[in-house]
Amino acid sequence: INLSQDELKKIAAYKAVEFVESGMVLGLGTGSTACHAVAKIGELLQQGKLKNIIGIPTSKKTHEQAVSVGIPLSDLDSYPVIDLAIDGADEVDPYLNLVKGRGGSLLREKMVEGACKKFVVIVDETKLVNYLGESKLAMPVEIVPFCWKFTAQRLELMFEEAGCVAKLRKVGENGEVYVTDNGNYIVDLYLKKDIGDLKVASDEILRLAGVVEHGMFLDMATTLIVAGKLGVTVRNK
Ligand code: A5P
Repeated sequence: INLSQDELKKIAAYKAVEFVESGMVLGLGTGSTACHAVAKIGELLQQGKLKNIIGIPTSKKTHEQAVSVGIPLSDLDSYPVIDLAIDGADEVDPYLNLVKGRGGSLLREKMVEGACKKFVVIVDETKLVNYLGESKLAMPVEIVPFCWKFTAQRLELMFEEAGCVAKLRKVGENGEVYVTDNGNYIVDLYLKKDIGDLKVASDEILRLAGVVEHGMFLDMATTLIVAGKLGVTVRNK
């Protein structure tokens, strides 16, 4: 059978929902893969197969979806420890380090997923890479709007050796500046080469005033679920 990419995303998402138990506080991810998990959790609540779930959404979009499927919601202030989070990723390396944020929700995702006992990442096999940045797609960084050009230039210089080009994220036909749920901008870094030690790169980015957070999720995922043409695999860290 030839499954579409969206069907593979759904298979991975449904597999992750098998880890959900009644009474759990759940981190609800954002994106086209995570939304299948949110929908399924709502369905199981409706059917009475799950009870007493509290969802902590990672974006305004997921908040809306969760409300629409009937998942009771709260936030990190009230639930600083989360049992399990389920979310997609843009890239996953062999050590379960991730690139996230091509959907724009990296900051809230990192806050919520950083507070989880278990973080299950759900992807179709196209997201697997040998090293972060390999896809040559965007490595997102959330920055404050104040003098964004300055911050973008500093980021470009920081990764000059990797041939970095930093672009302000824009959306829609008129190319309006993309604004995150937190009122910030996103600069997407396009890298021609591997940036080397990820921890060093992460620290360096975070030290730059103007940067709010970046989309590398290092050493956070505890389980990876990959759906591919040959089936679904579950890997624990
Ligand atoms: C949202 O900001 C992202 O981190 C998403 O979780 C990630 O981009 C995966 O999205 P898709 O499941 O839509 O590919």
